[in-house]
Amino acid sequence: MTDRVEISLQVNGVRHSLSIRPWRTLLEVLREELALTGTKRSCGEGQCGACTVLVDGNAVNACMYLALEALGRDVRTIEGPAQGDAALDAIQRSFVDKGAVQCGFCTPGMVMATRALLQDNPLPDEDAIREALVGHLCRCTGYVQIVEAIQDAAAKLAGCAERAHE
Ligand code: FES
Ligand code: FES
Repeated sequence: MTDRVEISLQVNGVRHSLSIRPWRTLLEVLREELALTGTKRSCGEGQCGACTVLVDGNAVNACMYLALEALGRDVRTIEGPAQGDAALDAIQRSFVDKGAVQCGFCTPGMVMATRALLQDNPLPDEDAIREALVGHLCRCTGYVQIVEAIQDAAAKLAGCAERAHE
């Protein structure tokens, strides 16, 4: 009798067939089975946000989320937005431009949280941004640059949306 299960996971639009132990977290499977190491592990207990990915558009802590829970769902990681394209996406570009990336360890989680935020609230005010960042720890930046980066990305993306409707 085996303690492994066969699963199929959709990550960044690509379907993967895997054989895993059922207690493996989504973070472990992303990093160790799929080599998607852009998603970081820091606390490993849901406290820091470094492991944030999107599942069906919602930000989740992948260290606290079983891979089995993602069956039939759409998983997006930091590798997703610019996949197949060397360019950074708008949110990533704003993080770089505004100096919101220093050591960079928190950045993938911050970017994915921003992605979830802007899907729900395209032009968030500072309070909404800070609320979305609760549970995301950054030891380097002091958060001011991160808030500015999110405001910058929101303005750029909203401008793009407006132009698309002109
Ligand atoms: S590593 Fe998942 S929340 Fe810290
Ligand atoms: S940039 Fe270093 S932890 Fe955030």
